[in-house]
Amino acid sequence: MHVGALALDRPLLNGSGVVDVVSADEDWNLPDEAVIKLGAFVTKTLTRDARAGNEEPWAEAIDSGTLINAVGLANPGVDAANRDWTGLAARLGMPVIASIGGSVDDLPELARLITSAGWAEALELNLSCPNVDGGLVAADPAAASAAVAAVRAVTELPIFAKLTPACAAPAQVARAVEAAGADAVTCGNTMPIRAAAPDGSPLLGAGFHGGMSGVGLHLIALRLVAEVAEAVAIPVVGLGGIDGEAAAQRMLDAGADILAVGTGAVLDPGLIARLAAVLQ
Ligand SMILES: Cc1cc2nc3c(=O)[nH]c(=O)nc-3n(C[C@H](O)[C@H](O)[C@H](O)COP(=O)(O)O)c2cc1C
Repeated sequence: MHVGALALDRPLLNGSGVVDVVSADEDWNLPDEAVIKLGAFVTKTLTRDARAGNEEPWAEAIDSGTLINAVGLANPGVDAANRDWTGLAARLGMPVIASIGGSVDDLPELARLITSAGWAEALELNLSCPNVDGGLVAADPAAASAAVAAVRAVTELPIFAKLTPACAAPAQVARAVEAAGADAVTCGNTMPIRAAAPDGSPLLGAGFHGGMSGVGLHLIALRLVAEVAEAVAIPVVGLGGIDGEAAAQRMLDAGADILAVGTGAVLDPGLIARLAAVLQ
């Protein structure tokens, strides 16, 4: 399977930020052995400057398979990544996809810096983070396509555009990013929800802001994948609530070409190896 010039030995990725091996926040880190069967590793979203993220707590489980989080893109910043992650692909034995985000205006500069640093074989544009101001770029076809076009103009690396389930017309967004030069669409990010505890108080440090991931997101993600897969010719990454072989099959049936796992793999670190065996 290829995404532009990126060759994937296996059509299986991790969800940015939630399955990690380099994050400063160890809660989301898995040992290298747990991710070794991926086709490529997607980094935590990088921003221009280091970010501490929102107030903690960052995440809570609302049932056994569903999480609400509002991390707020805590990351070391692009300069630290360019310094520290040059050996990451060799360490993991797979290509690395750099996720970039934060302010949409920063995306071309981030793309340029990471392209010249040379450690990533592809970029994923996080156009869909519900936990930072202005994060839901992918809810709007014109804004999403402008973001992809601006990055396309400065790099030849393959571009994954990460969409949001919080969108009435995802097919339109997907067609717009494909026309602007995206090589794949990742479907998708967490679903923005009201992060209220059972007693009505804010659940997380970010107050009532949060995004839902895991099994509670799965049917929402399937709809996103199905509508987008009908609309575009480029590969579609199915991401949202995959917790086993049955959910993986539903994603493939909905039209995903590549699968990605986040919450499911953190809750069950053997999941990636099991899915890899099926996707062999
Ligand atoms: C704790 C946490 C941190 C996340 N951080 C990022 C991030 O930095 N960038 C990004 O694009 N998505 C991020 N996501 C979203 C995941 O990559 C994924 O899109 C989402 O969790 C849905 O997949 P899942 O249901 O398999 O977890 C994060 C999700 C969680 C739960």
